[in-house]
Amino acid sequence: MANVSPLKNDLLLRAARREPVERTPVWIMRQAGRYLPEYRALRAEEAFFDVVRTPELATEVTLQPLRRFPLDAAIIFSDILVVPQAMGLRVEMVPGQGPCLLDPLRKVSDLRRLHRPVIEDELHYVLEALRLTRRALDGKVPLIGFCGAPWTLMAYMIEGGGSKTFSQAKGWLYGAPEASHQLLSLLTEVLVEFLTAQIDAGAQVIQVFDSWAGVLSPDLYRTFALPYLRRIAEEVGKARPGVPRIVFARGAHATLDELAASGYDVVGIDWTVDPRQARQITQDRVALQGNLDPCALYADLKTIRRLTHQMLEAFGPRGHIANLGHGLHPTHDPEHVRAFVEAVHDYMPVANTC
Ligand code: CP3
Repeated sequence: MANVSPLKNDLLLRAARREPVERTPVWIMRQAGRYLPEYRALRAEEAFFDVVRTPELATEVTLQPLRRFPLDAAIIFSDILVVPQAMGLRVEMVPGQGPCLLDPLRKVSDLRRLHRPVIEDELHYVLEALRLTRRALDGKVPLIGFCGAPWTLMAYMIEGGGSKTFSQAKGWLYGAPEASHQLLSLLTEVLVEFLTAQIDAGAQVIQVFDSWAGVLSPDLYRTFALPYLRRIAEEVGKARPGVPRIVFARGAHATLDELAASGYDVVGIDWTVDPRQARQITQDRVALQGNLDPCALYADLKTIRRLTHQMLEAFGPRGHIANLGHGLHPTHDPEHVRAFVEAVHDYMPVANTC
């Protein structure tokens, strides 16, 4: 990219490549959000998708957590649902409830309502926010771009919002497998273009969120999720080599081995996975990201520090990006978030005496 400063803190990039680092890098899923009073103040004035669609505001919100805490990465403020929006579905953020799609896909013939977006036009605002944020960061830390995984997006597009069982979306996988593959393929093609455009606009790392991986059986995950995740890693890697790719598939424990072989540099794990077991399964094929239970941040500051150090010890110093096992909650206290970040900074691994 022209006119941008060289990176001053590349810990995250080196950890993603499993190179030695002086200190484990740390960032947090949903590090920008409602637990921050400055975010709530802005949201009192502006609707969620207006913030997302206004590059200056998205940049401001992206930088808010970095002004408070010594984080090792910024993640662009946006949402995974901007892609279904760009494909023609209307999405609203309902306070206290979460995202709501007004015209979800109900039957296979509804696929005709979807259109293939021109990324540079319909998602221009995300790219502009990345360019602005990259400039504002001035090389301080790397900037992460992201998207939802095909299965997770399909799940929202059919359910119309969150769900306990995702039974309608799973109903498509069992009852209309061909139409499901058609939708997943279309999403995959759009996501490859979107991630590539995000990299061109300044993203130095990309993460794919498969938040609803955990509702699928291992067989369904192998048939309807993994092949598309692999295609994304492969095609983005070919188009823009050298940019670390992270996959976070919440609840995909049974397929961790296959995820580690799916072409990503880093696999994020949730807090229900034992880091030592994850290392055993993934070996040195990928770096790992995670995985303190977000609810651990409700403990007192001393306990947070102890639990964070235990987690760092379990992962070991090589090829680890510290994070929570999922996103921050609106009820988290920023001072407890600080304790987590500072505990990662303070950690001194027990010296290896051999
Ligand atoms: O991590 C960051 O700080 C970057 C911004 C970001 C948001 N959403 C902002 C947001 C990212 C990376 C996402 C990804 C996202 N969005 C995911 C994948 C990660 C995950 O949590 O599993 C998913 C599933 C979504 C869809 C979505 N958006 C949901 C389910 C919700 C409701 C959550 C809630 O707690 O209400 C959102 C809303 C949303 N996205 C908020 C933020 C800060 C809160 C909404 C608000 O300000 O009113």
